[in-house]
Amino acid sequence: MWSEVTAAAEAAVDDVDISSLPAAMRTLDTAALPAMARAVGRAGPFRPGIRRSGDQIADRVRVAPRHRWLLGRWLTVLCEEGLLQRDPDTGLFHALHPVRRRDVDEAAATVPGAAAALGYPAEIGDFFVAALADAPKLLADELAVQTLLFRDGELAAADGAYRDNVINRYLNAAAGRILHAEARRRAPLRVLELGAGVGGTTTAAVAGLAGFDVDYLFTDVSQFFLDAGRHRFGDSLRYAIADINARLVPGPFDVVLAANVLHNATHIGRLLDRLHAVLAPGGLLVVIESCREHYQALTSMQFLMSPREGMPRPGTDDVRAGTDRIFLTRDEWLGQLAAHGFRTEIELPEPTSPLTALAQHVFTARSSTDEQG
Ligand SMILES: C[S@@+](CC[C@H](N)C(=O)[O-])C[C@H]1O[C@@H](n2cnc3c(N)ncnc32)[C@H](O)[C@@H]1O
Repeated sequence: MWSEVTAAAEAAVDDVDISSLPAAMRTLDTAALPAMARAVGRAGPFRPGIRRSGDQIADRVRVAPRHRWLLGRWLTVLCEEGLLQRDPDTGLFHALHPVRRRDVDEAAATVPGAAAALGYPAEIGDFFVAALADAPKLLADELAVQTLLFRDGELAAADGAYRDNVINRYLNAAAGRILHAEARRRAPLRVLELGAGVGGTTTAAVAGLAGFDVDYLFTDVSQFFLDAGRHRFGDSLRYAIADINARLVPGPFDVVLAANVLHNATHIGRLLDRLHAVLAPGGLLVVIESCREHYQALTSMQFLMSPREGMPRPGTDDVRAGTDRIFLTRDEWLGQLAAHGFRTEIELPEPTSPLTALAQHVFTARSSTDEQG
């Protein structure tokens, strides 16, 4: 099955020179660094001898409480990129690389070209640039990232456009072929899709399942997406609200498909246990996930991940605890799947592919037939 899935995924991007993608990704990443550094610099000059804690920086920059985790990620990234130092004993930050407004603007000017090379529509490149320019306001919660993303009020269009890029074309094609192969193997097939959202992966899945006897349950936490899904896919699918952090819809299912949603789990291990329980023995979990936070996402889309005041942030007491990361790394995914009764079968892109620079993966994991393993 692996080779037919790889072939389908590669065919979906055969109009792209994938060898150029790592450089474009790096450009997009590094273009976010001056804006991060300049925002952190609002804490006051980091003159020799001045050391500040993360909390002191957050206070001085006036970061809203719900976005403080994100500032923590920025500080980590700036240290990793050599633009800031952290004292290993005290944890205090010092020696911030000075950044002028002009540096921010010059870096931002490289964003539209890099975003286009990665297959993003122009409106998404513009969104990234606007988010860099307004980084301090976003951190202070004086500006909601939704205002920049959904400028024309077209929620689904902008959200969908964000995922309309080379790696998602590749991964969605893979997912469609995986479902096709699974239907060939064991139709009639009961499919549960979680966090189906604007339905980009659904479209590929439905195409892959054409001609098979399938019961497809399209779910999301938001009624908005169910209505949009019904409008788009009609009565051939069923629709229901399902929150991955609450009781799931009753099973069993032969396949659970979850594209870019499982990182919303408050506790990934407990969620995987619930997915194991909702799958039939030998059922297949198909997961698409980002395994690294692109810096450009850290200054834009990740603001959407800040919880409302008083709500828990995903991952604070699971394998992500203490990291301020929303996305699990590839190794964390493989470890968590194995620890919660799943045997990983397929993982794409393959480790040698230039597409790995985009750090988004599809995993298929088969539920063990024994009791929870
Ligand atoms: C990043 S979008 C992904 C949408 C689609 N699967 C795709 O890849 O294009 C995340 C989706 O997960 C949904 N979502 C967020 N939190 C959720 C939760 N706790 N349970 C179920 N769905 C959730 C959102 O409403 C949104 O549609």
